[in-house]
Amino acid sequence: SSSKLLIKGGIVVNAHHQELADVYVEDGIIVSVQPNIKVGDDVTVLDATGKYVMPGGIDPHTHLAMEFMGTETIDDFFSGQAAALAGGTTMHIDFIIPVNGSLSAGFEAYKKKAKNSCMDYGFHMAITRWDEVVARDMEIMVKEKGINSFKFFLAYKGSLMINDELLLQAFKKCKSLGALAMVHAENGDGVAEGQKRMIELGITGPEGHALSRPPVLEGEATSRAIRLAGFVNTPLYIVHVMSSDAMEEIAKAQKLGQKVIGEPVVSGLVLDDSRLWHPDFTTAAKYVMSPPIRKLGHDKALQAALSTGVLQLVGTDHCTFNSTQKALGIDDFRKIPNGVNGIEERMHLVWDLMVESGRISVTDYVRITSTECARMFNIYPKKGAILPGSDADIIILNPNSSVEMSARSHHSRTDTNVYEGMRVKGKVEVTIAGGRVVWENDELKVVPGSGRYIEMAPFSYLFSGIDKADATYLSSLNAPVQRFSNEA
Ligand code: URP
Ligand code: ZN
Ligand code: ZN
Ligand code: ZN
Repeated sequence: SSSKLLIKGGIVVNAHHQELADVYVEDGIIVSVQPNIKVGDDVTVLDATGKYVMPGGIDPHTHLAMEFMGTETIDDFFSGQAAALAGGTTMHIDFIIPVNGSLSAGFEAYKKKAKNSCMDYGFHMAITRWDEVVARDMEIMVKEKGINSFKFFLAYKGSLMINDELLLQAFKKCKSLGALAMVHAENGDGVAEGQKRMIELGITGPEGHALSRPPVLEGEATSRAIRLAGFVNTPLYIVHVMSSDAMEEIAKAQKLGQKVIGEPVVSGLVLDDSRLWHPDFTTAAKYVMSPPIRKLGHDKALQAALSTGVLQLVGTDHCTFNSTQKALGIDDFRKIPNGVNGIEERMHLVWDLMVESGRISVTDYVRITSTECARMFNIYPKKGAILPGSDADIIILNPNSSVEMSARSHHSRTDTNVYEGMRVKGKVEVTIAGGRVVWENDELKVVPGSGRYIEMAPFSYLFSGIDKADATYLSSLNAPVQRFSNEA
């Protein structure tokens, strides 16, 4: 089918540039971006006067239809993506969890889960064990299946956690394949010890979750992962940076020239841990995620790091469980399924928190919500840009309107919202995905099966200069050693 769209009179924003222009779209692709485009009357015209026209959001971190902690997330690909589109996100990258340790089986399972997708998606893959089969499958994933990133868990002892020996082997493999290594950085043994302490003290409620895994455990694991990635000389991406402890390790490594990417998530930027002390279990348990939402102050530090570029992009870690599922942990916080909502709220909350507040520019907003993710995972400028030839994933945001977040009005299937009652300035009035208007006048018009799997090629820009650094290191091994003696 041939669909033609003209977005007229808006402020078109890319990560490096903004301008007053029209955007003309044909068959899902942006054809031209320039002022005063003239079109025939077979073209649907959207008026964007006084509004921002920006690349749709790309959420680098989601968990849809994931089996986890004895249950499965309540949002599947369709419901999670519909929620995303209602909030201005037009692509997400989800984490495949291997099936019985098999990456190929995991890939097939997730392709099936994603069949009724209504927006484009890509995959990262979690690595939860190590042997020759896994190593070979990683290669297949990168060379044949369009995956260019792997996540390693330093937490979740007894299920997903891997040790340093495996981490080193996996880092080496990632490097040789040009795949980006991603780490969930919490010290899993420390968490197990912290949980034991809480239970011994009789602290079994949701607040025990925060108390059992303090920032020091996140700082330690972040530092360890960074140093080991530096030792292997491969780029590293720290997912869900929740504490200033972790953020400072990232900043330190970056100053020394190491390629470390830090991803804060909306919950860590916006919330603080006081909510875990709420006397009502359901209200408190909805905030349980890992690493935990931290004490007041960490949020401000993460916001500052995002505005200075120490942290480069924002995810959500959208991983929803409803009240009934959260109640699995009513007698023991260790059994509360970990995860919060955010895929629908991210674009609005980041706009209000970072742009409306004056912390960053509109171009920076586009960079941290879309463009940087596209560049990092090697899908720019197909995604993350409003340029001729790019996919027509576009939002129109009205800076003078506002939105309220609530479980009553959101599109996720979960029955709670961690941002309940928050009203923010700026509203995504229109979302266009693959050239289709899918969100307009507060109404979703999504098409199951219209979302496409986006393959991501290895060796993104993060790998540039890696070979040179290795050569320098190798030649330094041949340099004469300076020996010192005590002889006068
Ligand atoms: O609590 C969280 N973050 N749940 C999702 C799994 C993960 O560790 O990202
Ligand atoms: Zn321009
Ligand atoms: Zn994680
Ligand atoms: Zn996650």
